[in-house]
Amino acid sequence: MEFLCLAPTHSFSTNPKSTKNISIDHTSTTGRIMKMYQNMRGSTVRPSALPLKMSRIVSVPDISAPVVNVPAILPEVDPGELIVNKPTGGDRDELFQYLVDILAAPVYDVAIESPLELADKLSARLGVNFYIKREDKQSVFSFKLRGAYNMMSNLSKEELDKGVITASAGNHAQGVALAGRRLGCVATIVMPETTPQIKVDAVKALGGNVILHGETFDEAQTHALQLSENGGITYIPPFDAPAIIKGQGTIGTEINRQLKDIHAVFVPVGGGGLIAGVAAFFKQIAPNTKIIGVEPTGAASMTLSLYEGHRVKLENVDTFADGVAVALVGEYTFAKCQELIDGMVLVGNDGISSAIKDVYDEGRNILETSGALAIAGASAYCEFYKIKNENIVAIASGANMDFSKLHKVTELAGLGSGKEALLATFVIEQPGSFKKFVGLVGSNISELTYRFTSERKNALILYRVDVDEKSDLEELIGKMNSSDMNTLNLSHSELAVDHLKHLVGGSANINDEIFCEFTFPEKAGALSKFLDVFSPRWNITLCRYRDQGEINASVLVGFQIPQSEIDEFKNKADELGYPYEFDNFNEAFNLVVAE
Ligand SMILES: Cc1ncc(COP(=O)(O)O)c(C=O)c1O
Repeated sequence: MEFLCLAPTHSFSTNPKSTKNISIDHTSTTGRIMKMYQNMRGSTVRPSALPLKMSRIVSVPDISAPVVNVPAILPEVDPGELIVNKPTGGDRDELFQYLVDILAAPVYDVAIESPLELADKLSARLGVNFYIKREDKQSVFSFKLRGAYNMMSNLSKEELDKGVITASAGNHAQGVALAGRRLGCVATIVMPETTPQIKVDAVKALGGNVILHGETFDEAQTHALQLSENGGITYIPPFDAPAIIKGQGTIGTEINRQLKDIHAVFVPVGGGGLIAGVAAFFKQIAPNTKIIGVEPTGAASMTLSLYEGHRVKLENVDTFADGVAVALVGEYTFAKCQELIDGMVLVGNDGISSAIKDVYDEGRNILETSGALAIAGASAYCEFYKIKNENIVAIASGANMDFSKLHKVTELAGLGSGKEALLATFVIEQPGSFKKFVGLVGSNISELTYRFTSERKNALILYRVDVDEKSDLEELIGKMNSSDMNTLNLSHSELAVDHLKHLVGGSANINDEIFCEFTFPEKAGALSKFLDVFSPRWNITLCRYRDQGEINASVLVGFQIPQSEIDEFKNKADELGYPYEFDNFNEAFNLVVAE
């Protein structure tokens, strides 16, 4: 087996992939557009068609570190490929104290010992014994009550009488509210104003005192920390405190009781509390079991921090797996990961979605996106390394799925499993060509968009096809290309899945048209605020938005902006504060809209 390798040594394996640089052909149309935008944006142009869409690192607020760019190696990592951490060991006495405190943690006042279930279908498909630790079965549908309760039950009566406070838009909020109710203390939870009502209601139903503040999690957190300081109220962090880590570590004790001879335990990583606790237990009791963290490629803050050898903050965090959408991992949690874990694997949103489907197929349960992350990572790892006959454990960490997100999950699930593909084919615009196209593709089309446009000689058809095997897809693409129907596989382009198939029809032939994907806070008034900044200064030529059931929404916008005004545009966009990316250099985008 060959593994990619993380810091502290920065030594990499001889895997040729690890040294491959991304090169851009500046003579192609896409390359020319990329070059133009490279000039516009400095050096942060993201080449399209990377296997995985990576987060960018921007800065570290609390440590003096330079701004670092995503190392060229990381975009080359395949889903499931292990990025090895060389554990540094850590202080034995401190680790022993972790072990003692994990074993003594009183979490069973509020938590159950969750079942460890053999997933029959996944096991048969992968050729391993695939076990799922069902933390979604807790009363608040996630593991987060363990850490919160452990920390709060250690507070003095005076501290409890003053109440506790935290900031969270998700599962931690429910854990703190439940622990507060059980301990008879007022639990105040500051949530961003963008928090979906269902989550606000869930916290209130558990007796939590909700304050809605700010557009982002950072603003809510700053407010909560201020209230905590002003009122001398204990702040309960979501992951970065030893008591939280130890509470989550109780999951490790249960897994170890429930199963022996485990090859690897896969743990979803947000801020790192869960993996730090599980690793602190396992690495002292069953050190041969690998502890492997799983992150989405768009929220890889632990992977990149381990790579750099210190914590780094991500500029953009993909919120599809909202429970793990963390820009900066914790200090304690990072230290424990450096000391103990075996490595990280990354998966795309399509892989997470297909893991949700796998769990649904097993027993008709629906996990939330972060909740299925470890299952996605474990499956991808087993497939990548062709692991057979081993005991594999993945923690299903939560089931608080936003119902409105299901449509995106179902769209991505087929693509993630490789059982469906999203393809784009050019057909020569002449009578009979559409019929010829259908004849070639066959009857396995599940969705199709076709629109004649007089601007092109060739018409573009975007469509989804069912495929049994990867080789069937390759064969189909080969067959189309050799019949003069140029075909591209867009299955891994989220831009295509989210927006482009709704925009088939091509360019409106507008001069100086640029396209950006903005991340809007999912909040009333966000669009008006956006328009106040850009309109009527520039023509808005296109806008596509759809609620994805997340705190943020991806909105595709076209503008008519002459090159000489691009800097002014960038200043205004930066002031607005909604993260954005230029899309003109995206291959899929050019195909459908720009060219
Ligand atoms: C469902 C779910 N899974 C995983 C995580 C990640 O946990 P941690 O932040 O301790 O890494 C969270 C965090 O809230 C979560 O809600």
